[in-house]
Amino acid sequence: MTPSKSSGTEKLPMRRGGKAARIAVIPGDGIGKEVTPEAVKVLRAAVAPANRQMEFVEFDWGADKYLREGVTLPAGAVEMLRDEFDAILFGALGDPRVPSNQHAADILLGLRFKLDLYVNARPVELLHARLTPLRDRTERNIRLVVFRENTEGLYVGVGGFFKKGTPDEIAMQEDVNSRKGVERIIRYAFEYARQNRLKRVCMSDKSNAMTFAHDLWQRVFKEVRQEYPETESRHLYIDTLAMELVRDPRQFDVIVTCNLFGDIISDLGAQLAGGLGLAPSANIHPGQTSLFEPIHGSAPNIAGKGIANPLGSVLASAMMLDFLGWREQAAAVSEAVKLALRENFLTPDLGGEKGTQAVGDWLARRVGEIKPIST
Ligand code: NAD
Ligand code: IPM
Ligand code: MN
Repeated sequence: MTPSKSSGTEKLPMRRGGKAARIAVIPGDGIGKEVTPEAVKVLRAAVAPANRQMEFVEFDWGADKYLREGVTLPAGAVEMLRDEFDAILFGALGDPRVPSNQHAADILLGLRFKLDLYVNARPVELLHARLTPLRDRTERNIRLVVFRENTEGLYVGVGGFFKKGTPDEIAMQEDVNSRKGVERIIRYAFEYARQNRLKRVCMSDKSNAMTFAHDLWQRVFKEVRQEYPETESRHLYIDTLAMELVRDPRQFDVIVTCNLFGDIISDLGAQLAGGLGLAPSANIHPGQTSLFEPIHGSAPNIAGKGIANPLGSVLASAMMLDFLGWREQAAAVSEAVKLALRENFLTPDLGGEKGTQAVGDWLARRVGEIKPIST
């Protein structure tokens, strides 16, 4: 399942359907540096037979650069990415030497906010039945997408300390929800359902406790749903959604929720479909430079061992190809991943015994065989 599914409509336009694409590659920290080159390897193999070009430019933004030079997101970076690149392939940020996580806030959240990537699409798709921890569930039972609001909520960094470091300390973090921000993500979810003939949209919030911020979500949801009478729309509180996702994931096609809840529920979803190593995501502003990344972080506990699962990053690349309108190549990459799962050519997190690079090499070889490309 991929997020753009734009079909050239005005509401969900593609970035470019052209012959060439320029991709900014930001591997970041930890296993981001290990999985991202494998995704690029697979991408190169997938696009090689096509009558199209894909150019990659790598940027070394991350903890090392921050510690060395004090630079997180370099000046002018946002404008450069917006003007000169079609998409960004991102690894992960996070390093034990930077406990404040300042560089991740500046780079990752900075790009999400400043490029206005308001849709964080996180598909939860079981690609092989044996991967789910749920009993008696098969591929057909776990197939949904979480649309996480990606530019506001509790992530905006509005807040502060009062009397910091004293026994009377107060810490505040504001939850910022704009009508425009709430409306556009809810509308995107309904449009996605309509364009992909998906029957059900579930909006999830905590309006029983968050009586201001999520009252706005309630009101906007009730308004927007009226424009989509063909869609079964439903509301669940986030705690109930967490329970229902585990109890019976067949109930869901499209879930839309706020930034923080989307972060949490998508890790739960990832585990239902085989784990963090396998889960991709897309940070999208329709029609503009967008960012694609695995859901997982820099995994310091396994970084440097050569055993990180590259499939999340590879599937994020497939979402990127789809966003760019390279549909056949996107399908070939997804198919290669399914083959790896069927043939058990996998890293240890999925029960295999292969290394990161071996899986990347295998996928790159297979993706070339899967085609016929007729673009
Ligand atoms: P994590 O996703 O890095 O790791 C959680 C667990 O999943 C670990 O046991 C890890 O080994 C495992 N795991 C994750 N990806 C894997 C893969 N590809 N293959 C095999 N196993 C994998 O989450 P965390 O440990 O909570 O965070 C570590 C750092 O990453 C923190 O600094 C955090 O802020 C950051 N982080 C960054 C992003 C991002 O850049 N988008 C996302 C999540 C966390
Ligand atoms: C994610 C991550 C980030 C988030 C962190 C690193 C700020 O967990 O992409 O899911 O919470 O959005
Ligand atoms: Mn997360």
